[in-house]
Amino acid sequence: MSRILLIGKTGQIGQELECVLTPLHDVIAPDRAQLDLTNADSIRRVIAEARPEIVINAAAYTQVDAAEKEAALAMQLNGVAPDIIAECVKKIDGLLVHYSTLFVFDGTKNGPYLENDAPNPLGTYGRSKLAGDEAIVASGCSHIILRVNWIYSVRRSNFVLTMLKLARERASLNIVADQVGSPTAAAACATAMMGMLHKGRALRDLTGIYNLAAQGQCTRLEWAQAVIDGAKACSGRYDGWAELQPTTTAANPQPAARPLNTVADCGKIRRVMGIEMAPWKTSIEKLLRGLYPVSM
Ligand SMILES: NC(=O)c1ccc[n+]([C@@H]2O[C@H](COP(=O)([O-])OP(=O)(O)OC[C@H]3O[C@@H](n4cnc5c(N)ncnc54)[C@H](OP(=O)(O)O)[C@@H]3O)[C@@H](O)[C@H]2O)c1
Repeated sequence: MSRILLIGKTGQIGQELECVLTPLHDVIAPDRAQLDLTNADSIRRVIAEARPEIVINAAAYTQVDAAEKEAALAMQLNGVAPDIIAECVKKIDGLLVHYSTLFVFDGTKNGPYLENDAPNPLGTYGRSKLAGDEAIVASGCSHIILRVNWIYSVRRSNFVLTMLKLARERASLNIVADQVGSPTAAAACATAMMGMLHKGRALRDLTGIYNLAAQGQCTRLEWAQAVIDGAKACSGRYDGWAELQPTTTAANPQPAARPLNTVADCGKIRRVMGIEMAPWKTSIEKLLRGLYPVSM
């Protein structure tokens, strides 16, 4: 059993982490009123009082488009706060586990991204997350930075829940077919964390940046289609779903530019920690079976 401070317990990954960690570990999970990432004093006070062996930071500014208008806030949460957390973790000789993103890359690589590929974020969100990664590494604290992407769960807002809603409301949906990634369930990230924590103190010696993603890759259009096909099968309702039409990222400009390729090479976390995620479709089907349990 480890004493763990979990920051961001209300987020997609944070909620799943709290569920799996609490039965087995001594978990302290402050809400935003107790630990606000914009308030350095609250970060320092909570970590000093809790004196955890491990701090897991699953909190962040995650609104990719809004970040373009709220750059200072995004940088405060994603760039400055991780620096302060890392400084505190170093002071108590703890381990910091921090979530980052494949959006630190520009998406132009022909093939999956490795952890040590040169970052080149396209937008404010990616730049702010990269600043956080760099600050943690520079702090010298023991750290595990997990680069994840295309996260979904049954809670908050994400691509899967949006597709399930819009596909029932509309006859047709245009979905980009030129963005490729690996849809990854927040629940699978939490299971991976349990695997890492089994290593106990040895985890501290594995300090570094790790990609963490579901096996396989798909386009956003294929992801949407898998969600709808799964929902049809799990709900037993085959009519009344939108038809999907392919479109391009260029034809659908958003405030923040998106990297077209966010596929991660997860060989490092497999080799070093023995962590292997399920194929992306398996986790989507699992989530949908939970959403439509009556028909199963
Ligand atoms: N979602 C994705 O597709 C994705 C992709 C790549 C990387 N990531 C990374 O994965 C991690 C988790 O993402 P997620 O999707 O699980 O996040 P999320 O669902 O958007 O949740 C964000 C969390 O941060 C908390 N938070 C926001 N502002 C805060 C503040 N000022 N002080 C304290 N807490 C604050 C939120 O608390 P409230 O409930 O109070 O708002 C919430 O607990 C993040 O580091 C994110 O950058 C996510």
